[in-house]
Amino acid sequence: MATAHVVGWGKYIPTRVVTNDDLSHMVDTSDEWIRTRTGIAQRRLVADEQSTSDLAVEAAHRALEVAGFRPALVELIIVATVTADMPFPSTACLVQDAIGATHAAAFDLSAGCTGFIYALSVASDMIGAGSYTNALVIGAETLSRFTDWTDRETCVLFGDGAGAVFLQAKDLDGGVLSSVLGSDGSGAELLAVQAGGSKLPASEQTLADRMHFITMRGREVFRFAVGALPRATRDVLEKAHLDLDDVDLVIPHQANQRIIDAAARSLGLPAEKLYSNLEWYGNTSAASIPIALCEAVEQGLIQRDNLVVCVGFGAGLTWGATALRWTVRAPSAPMSRWETLLYSVQYRYASFRSRLLRALRAITAWWTKE
Ligand code: UT7
Repeated sequence: MATAHVVGWGKYIPTRVVTNDDLSHMVDTSDEWIRTRTGIAQRRLVADEQSTSDLAVEAAHRALEVAGFRPALVELIIVATVTADMPFPSTACLVQDAIGATHAAAFDLSAGCTGFIYALSVASDMIGAGSYTNALVIGAETLSRFTDWTDRETCVLFGDGAGAVFLQAKDLDGGVLSSVLGSDGSGAELLAVQAGGSKLPASEQTLADRMHFITMRGREVFRFAVGALPRATRDVLEKAHLDLDDVDLVIPHQANQRIIDAAARSLGLPAEKLYSNLEWYGNTSAASIPIALCEAVEQGLIQRDNLVVCVGFGAGLTWGATALRWTVRAPSAPMSRWETLLYSVQYRYASFRSRLLRALRAITAWWTKE
């Protein structure tokens, strides 16, 4: 039976840097408090004209380029996000159109900061079942659009970004070995955007009450997280009949350095076995694990045959982990000029095709109107 293997990876981090000092001019906080309580030094925020799908498209491009795969042959796109461009259509459909994945099924998946783990698990199961031979799995967020910049308890934590992996079916040992997923909706209120859905549609009152922003009971989420991370890590290894000693690198959700350190202690692993980059990006929710995974590969920390555990927790409450045996080598050289040109032609064609289809629909509507 074929299993799903990661053959491409990519990330996109917006260029605008907001430091802790910048935030200390906006709310009553300090660089010292944020660094010592969270480990975050800065975060990146989107430009005014960017949205979640724009970040997702950039990460997807890079993952496909690393895999050397044509967008038109992608069969499945899952975007894990809690900050979709709009309630519907899905951000995944916008990505499908923008990259020219003309033969792909596409949908969004919402599981808070665990979204990427859920998406990876769903995609690898669909590949394992033989329904698809490849899948683009993306975690992308623009949390800055849902952040209350007057609330010091949340605004110091979050950042924007996107990461992606490209999975392919292979008759090889390794790839995605096991996944565990969990949820506990009794903790729904701990971390939420309360208004803007069917329960509390947008109104003057919800706007006045600032209910379209993220609210969090941080201490309770913290307590949940320090239990969930090590538990999910142990469970996913047990499911794959592996041991903590077999693990080369853990990629944890990047929410708080103290949570990552507590997980390392609980698992009895040295700190360097748990990858951390939240100092530079803050908590990017569903994007944090694929961004960290991508960086770890780029830094040579993940090599062929390594065992990697990706593990997360988040709103829902949700938690989950995936164990993967890495089976590919990172590209030894950047893309050649010829390859760069080839991809650029495909991206331009996708954009042309999208505009043409929209124009044809407008003409058809005009032609057929009474
Ligand atoms: O992706 C999943 C989502 N979120 C998380 O994983 C977050 C989990 N929780 C956390 O990371 C931590 O709970 C926080 C970083 C949010 C807060 O750290 P803490 O050590 O749990 O602080 P605390 O909430 O217990 O607050 C301690 C003090 C309070 O003041 P008093 O009541 O002791 O006077 C807060 O008002 O720190 C105060 N405080 C701040 N002070 C300066 C809270 N936020 C800030 C701030 N700057 N930004």
